Amino acid sequence: MFDLENIIRENIKRLTPYSSARDEYNGAAQIFLDANENSFGSPLERDYNRYPDPLQTEIKEIIAARNGVAPNEIFVGNGSDEAIDLLVRIFCEPSRDNVLICPPTYGMYEVSANINDVEIKCVNLTTDFQLDFDEVKSAIDQNTKVIFICSPNNPTGNSLDRFEILKLLKDFNGIVAVDEAYIHFSTEKSFVSEIKNYPNLVVLQTFSKAWGLAGLRVGLALANEKTIELFNRVKPPYNVSQIAQEAILRALGNQTAVEETIAKIIREREKLIENLNDFSFVEKVYPSDANFVLVKTTNADAIYRFLIGEKIVVRNRNNVELCAGCLRVTVGTPPEMERLLQSLKSCETKSEKTQIS
Ligand SMILES: Cc1ncc(COP(=O)(O)O)c(C=O)c1O
Repeated sequence: MFDLENIIRENIKRLTPYSSARDEYNGAAQIFLDANENSFGSPLERDYNRYPDPLQTEIKEIIAARNGVAPNEIFVGNGSDEAIDLLVRIFCEPSRDNVLICPPTYGMYEVSANINDVEIKCVNLTTDFQLDFDEVKSAIDQNTKVIFICSPNNPTGNSLDRFEILKLLKDFNGIVAVDEAYIHFSTEKSFVSEIKNYPNLVVLQTFSKAWGLAGLRVGLALANEKTIELFNRVKPPYNVSQIAQEAILRALGNQTAVEETIAKIIREREKLIENLNDFSFVEKVYPSDANFVLVKTTNADAIYRFLIGEKIVVRNRNNVELCAGCLRVTVGTPPEMERLLQSLKSCETKSEKTQIS
């Protein structure tokens, strides 16, 4: 049986969180002299002299209403990378506990664990990039606190089998973090609706991808109230800036534009997949539920270098497990995709002449 109390790090259980001035008083005073802010204002066209809402109340109310969850089931962070780091820090005792990841996958799970001196258990995805469920089950031990599942997965682009993730949620007595950074580009259903059914589920989402707001650094964790309370206890008091909060609120008011962008990206993705398949050096274009495509080529290093020469940068995944020969290409605008395809044509012509492929 999953019991949150059993898996929280001891020092976090005992932690008295920082109590900010706004935590202690958030009423409607006329003069605020409690937070050592600068009452004289800012050297800008508008003032940023006051600390922002530590709990991002307005943002959470809107996201809660749109996702059928309560505001206190949402954590807003400095990117979802903050939520990944918090998961490790809240649940894993350094030098004792471990997290489980399924490579090839997003690199920050491993980096966050390493920063926190937490062991990483790796169970590779299968060759068709699905969970190796039995291997995952047998790798879990009593010190496994968090399993990171990325779906749609970076860098492979596919969604993981929903049924297997649900099975893991049922079987595992620790946290299953389902990273849905790319969910908006997929036809798969989000796991957010499962939060009420699984107290060990944490869903990660971000404003960096479909919302086109990577520069603001805003991401989300959605989970049951008790887990979110732990996030709030451990996070820095003012983790999302005033500018970011205001911009997110404006963006949330423009959902239609986001939906249009998503549709455009999906259209470009499908065109890109079709076009890439025509190149002689392309062995396979993997199907994608994300805003990028993984392409297996005959010579990833040479193509990567050629594109750099053309001032186009893609991600070389040649040295990543199960991704030998692969490049990961983000879907760009139509002119960007046109330039990419033209450059790949030149690369193909050159390789035919020099027989390098
Ligand atoms: C799977 C996955 N999760 C999380 C992130 C980080 O998102 P954020 O910008 O919200 O920190 C990325 C960024 O590339 C990602 O690929």
